[in-house]
Amino acid sequence: MPEITTSLTDFMTDHPHLKFSFFGGKGGVGKTVMAGVTALHLASQGKRVMLASTNPVHSLSGLLDQDVYGKATPVNNVPNLWAYEIDTKETIERSKQDIKTKIRWFLKFAEISTQADMFVESATMNPAFEESAMFENMVDLMFKNEYDAYVFDTAPTANARRLLGMSKVYSLWVNKMVKSREEAQSLRDLFSFTKKKEADPLMDYLLSFRERIAHARDLLTDPALTAFFFMTLPEALPIAVIKRFINWFHDFGIPVGGVIVNMLIDKAQVRADSPEFVRNRVAMQDNYMAEIWRDFDNVRAVLPLFDNEVRGTAALRMVADYAFPQPVAAGMGK
Ligand SMILES: Nc1ncnc2c1ncn2[C@@H]1O[C@H](COP(=O)(O)OP(=O)(O)O)[C@@H](O)[C@H]1O
Ligand SMILES: [Mg+2]
Repeated sequence: MPEITTSLTDFMTDHPHLKFSFFGGKGGVGKTVMAGVTALHLASQGKRVMLASTNPVHSLSGLLDQDVYGKATPVNNVPNLWAYEIDTKETIERSKQDIKTKIRWFLKFAEISTQADMFVESATMNPAFEESAMFENMVDLMFKNEYDAYVFDTAPTANARRLLGMSKVYSLWVNKMVKSREEAQSLRDLFSFTKKKEADPLMDYLLSFRERIAHARDLLTDPALTAFFFMTLPEALPIAVIKRFINWFHDFGIPVGGVIVNMLIDKAQVRADSPEFVRNRVAMQDNYMAEIWRDFDNVRAVLPLFDNEVRGTAALRMVADYAFPQPVAAGMGK
C-alpha cells in the first residue's frame, strides 16, 4: 500500500508563510468542509485566519452552523478564526454603477452621442461579470491584509480557473487599452489649442486596474504564499476533473499544494458478510485508489467516509485530526 510522503501537516511546516489556500474539485467532494478544516487548523496554530466565501451561493453559514453572511464574523468558540460570506449581489450592483459612470465619461470623451445604458447592459449581462465581481471581492480581501492567513471556499472547478486565467487576459487587455488611450491623448494634445493637461479618469482607472491585477498575480503565483489543493473521491469523474485542473494550473504557473482524497470507506469496518452493496463500493474504491497512487505524486491526505455529514466546528475539529495528523513526538507515550 503506497504511503503519503508529504502530509498536509508536513506541507504546512514546509510553507510557514502560506497565506492563501484554495480548494478545487468537482461539486460535492468536500471542498467547503476541507476549507473549514484547514482554517480551523491554521487558527489552532495561532494564526489569525479568515475563512471566506465569494460564491454567489454560500455554504459557510451552514458549515459552521452560524450566520456569517455580509461581514467578517468571529467564529463561535474558535479563537483566531473569522468567517465571511461576501455579498456578491451588492458588489455587482456597485460595479454596474461604476461602469455606467465610466462608459458615460468615455462616450463623452469620444464625442459619441449614444445612451450609455445599452453598453452597460451588454457589459454587465455577461456571465463573466459575476465572476469578475467575485474576483474583485477576493482581491479586495487579500489586499487589505488584515489576517495572517486566508482560506477561500471557491466556486467549483472551471470557475476558479477562469478567475485566474482572467487575470492574464485582463492585463493583456488593459495594456492594449492603456496604449490606445495614450495614443488618443497625445493626438488630442497635439491638436488642442489649450496646452492645459486634461484629467483622464478612464486612464487613471485603467492604470490602477493594471496595478491591481499585477499585484494579484504576484500573490497568487507565489508558491510561498499560495496553494491550491485539489480534492477528489476514489471515483472516475472527480479524478478526471482534478487531473484536468492540475494541468491547467501548471500552465498558468499557479502553485498546486497537492491532492486530498475524501470519503474512502474504512475497510476495517467491512467484512465478508457485509452487504454486497458495501463490498462492491469498497472494490470500486480500491481500483480508483490504485489509479490515484499511480497518477499523483502529491497526495497529502486520505480522509475516511464518516457515518454523518460534517457540520459544526466540533465535527470540523474531528476531521482536522485526520487531515492534519500531529507528528508523534519522540519519547511520547512511554
Ligand atoms: N469525509 C466525509 N464523510 C462524510 N460526509 C462528508 C465527508 N466530507 C464531506 N462530507 C459531506 O458531503 C457533503 C458535501 O461536502 P462539501 O464540503 O459541501 O462539498 P463541496 O464544497 O465540494 O461541494 C456535505 O454534506 C458534507 O458534510
Ligand atoms: Mg462547497
